[in-house]
Order: sequence, then C-alpha cells, then structure tokens
Amino acid sequence: MSFDLVRVTAQLVTGEITWSLHYEPSCDSTQDLAREAASGGAAPGWTVTTDLQNRGRGRHGRSWTAPVGKALLFSTVLQPPVDVVPLLPLLAAVTVAGGVELSTGAAPELKWPNDVLLNGKKLAGILLERPPGSSLILGVGLNANQSATELPEGATSLAVELGHPVEREALMAAILNDLGNAYERADREGVDWILPGWRSRTAMLGKPVTFRRDGVLVRGLAEDVGADGALLVRTADGTRLSIVAGDVELVRPD
Ligand code: BTN
Repeated sequence: MSFDLVRVTAQLVTGEITWSLHYEPSCDSTQDLAREAASGGAAPGWTVTTDLQNRGRGRHGRSWTAPVGKALLFSTVLQPPVDVVPLLPLLAAVTVAGGVELSTGAAPELKWPNDVLLNGKKLAGILLERPPGSSLILGVGLNANQSATELPEGATSLAVELGHPVEREALMAAILNDLGNAYERADREGVDWILPGWRSRTAMLGKPVTFRRDGVLVRGLAEDVGADGALLVRTADGTRLSIVAGDVELVRPD
C-alpha cells in the first residue's frame, strides 16, 4: 500500500518544529530531495518520504535498499540549537527508538553512534548530512514491513519481530513528535538529558568493540560516551580513545 501522508499529518503535534510533509512515490534518495529543498530555503521541519529509493544511501558510502512500500524512508531538514548539533547523531537514534516504542511497544537497543537494533539485528539506520548552509539533513531508514527474505543479512524488521505488519504512517508521526519534544526539552533544560537517554537504551557500554581506524582494526572496551557524543574506548594497553562518529567505522560490538 502506498504511503498516506494525511494519516501522518493527522497524528502530528505542532510544537517547536512546524512540520511540512512531502511525498514522492519514488526517487533516487530522499536525502537529495531534502538537500535541494534546504538549498532552496526550506525551513526546518521540511520532510520528504517515499515508497521507493533507487539510490538510497547509508553511512560510510554504503547503499540502502528496501523493496517498494515496505520500509519507512524519510529525510528532514533541521537547524538544531548549536549545543544539540554534536549530540544529534545520538539524539536522532533516541528519538527513532522512542517513536518505535511508542508506536509498536517494541523496545529497540542503540548501537553507537546511531544504529537502532531489535533483538540484536539492525532495525533502522540514520544518516546525518551537512550540506553547505546552516541546515542538517536527517535521513531515517526503518525496516517496517519487510519479510525475512527481503532484508539484508544482520537486519530485521518490525513485522518480522512482532509477527504482524505495522503502520508506517503511525511510526513516522511518533518519531517526528518525539523529535519535536526533544527540541522543546533541549530549549527548556539544555542538553544534559541526551546522554543518559542514549545510555539507557544501549547495551554496548562495558562490552568489547572492534573498529576500523585508517584501515587498521582496533579492539577495546566501550566505556562510555563523552559530552561531545564521542565513544570512549579503553584499549588493551590502557589508552583511552575518543572515537568521533564519521572518523571510524565500528565493525562490531563483539
Ligand atoms: C545507515 O547506514 O545505517 C544509514 C541509513 C540511512 C538510510 C536512509 S533511508 C532515507 C534516507 N535517504 C537515504 O538515501 N538514506 C537515508
């Protein structure tokens, strides 16, 4: 069934972010559409969703594919307060997980910097891009109704885990509402609640991690996340490394 924007609008709460929703039946990438909109002056809250991407992209230059009409795919233009910007990768993951939980009852886990897992498999990916100008583009790909055979290795969908299809429109509204609430909270209270929110949803702290830095595999223990959103890793020789998202590729939480 094709995506029904009206159902999203009906469930959206307007707060600090005024949402402006758009739908394209198919496109190369919603990231490109949002980037074009931002460069044409679109205000924060401009959001586009689609049923099919022909050139969907993920982090680290990977592609992101999903069969038509099964996944929730959207990109939104944001201009977060400056103190939120470094924490946005973590905050975005917290809001996607929060939206999923509110909408379906499933409680996802987070993997630094912004993977959303369910039962140890990847449920959603988040891509943050910073085109020229003051806007950031937040892209979300959430596996909603794919069957097990329609998913890449290591991934899962809500339909697979819950045993029934889910409504993509309700998921999108829940995620956007959570994002709006997060903006308001950051305005009211500052950003100190973001890291505890992320920590409460991750299982990777205290566990071994392997990541690739400049082509070299490095192993260590994930100790914490820093105030700047970096992953703090203790290596075998006792060195504490501060891993910044984008600089390294986390190969696996072992
Ligand atoms: C990742 O690698 O985990 C991030 C994947 C992000 C995919 C989403 S789907 C909607 C938006 N459009 C894209 O081309 N990518 C993002």
